[in-house]
Amino acid sequence: MLTVLVTGGTGTLGRHVVSGLREAGIQPRVLTRREGKAADHVTGDLATGAGLTAAVSGADTVIHCATHVRYRRVDIAGTERLLAVAREHGVGHFVYISIVGIDDNPFSYYRTKLRAEELIAASGVPYTILRATQFHELILSVVAGLAKPPLAPVPKGFKSQPIDTEAVAARLVTLAAGEPVGRARDIGGPRVDTLADLLQVYCATRSKSRMLLPIGVPGKTGRAFRAGANLLGPDGETLGGTFDEFLARRSAG
Ligand SMILES: NC(=O)c1ccc[n+]([C@@H]2O[C@H](COP(=O)([O-])OP(=O)(O)OC[C@H]3O[C@@H](n4cnc5c(N)ncnc54)[C@H](OP(=O)(O)O)[C@@H]3O)[C@@H](O)[C@H]2O)c1
Repeated sequence: MLTVLVTGGTGTLGRHVVSGLREAGIQPRVLTRREGKAADHVTGDLATGAGLTAAVSGADTVIHCATHVRYRRVDIAGTERLLAVAREHGVGHFVYISIVGIDDNPFSYYRTKLRAEELIAASGVPYTILRATQFHELILSVVAGLAKPPLAPVPKGFKSQPIDTEAVAARLVTLAAGEPVGRARDIGGPRVDTLADLLQVYCATRSKSRMLLPIGVPGKTGRAFRAGANLLGPDGETLGGTFDEFLARRSAG
């Protein structure tokens, strides 16, 4: 049976990857910083390298979903460490989740994702990189934050094409079960909406009434988001449900 190490397997996306692997009859192993008793968890830290050898040893495939706000230590240096251990232990497939449109957007987190992609491509470990658009959970946290004051500030002209994390996880599981393909086809949600529309949908489902205050975001990052750099290109594939459907599911419990 295939053994797959999932970094970030306790996170928003990774939890679905772990359950998807189990449903596919694949043995998941989860890297986490937490000390726990779950049989399939291995304690380790990408920021220090602690526990990585034990986590990777015997794994056929790695699905790398871990991320942290201290992204230089975790997403860049941590990815480099993980790749070195994966190479040493003969991992046959390194699967990475990345973000749509990071080539054309100077947003610092996106530069980090691009650097991680470059490290993976240069590592010599056979790999698959899947780029996805923003997850519904991320958009929910953004619009919930914007909707806190009575006058809600909204970046002018920003759009998003949010996607179900379950759909992203299912695609990662399918890719992990196959041969390494390098860059996989980009995926995104079924609809492009302005951030203002997504905020209005959120307010409607929470029975909140908010006046919107459009804010111009200066600089190259603002320009990239206004130009839709974070949206799926013509070769991308749409998957899953809309943000409205996601919110309705949440409201239904
Ligand atoms: N959010 C989006 O809209 C979006 C869109 C496209 C792609 N992505 C990508 O999807 C991936 C997952 O995002 P997410 O939102 O699911 O993340 P998340 O919920 O914030 O989860 C982060 C995970 O990283 C692990 N982690 C953090 N620091 C670590 C460290 N030092 N060592 C080991 N593990 C560490 C955490 O595990 P423990 O706390 O258990 O240690 C946790 O499971 C990221 O690579 C992200 O760039 C996200």
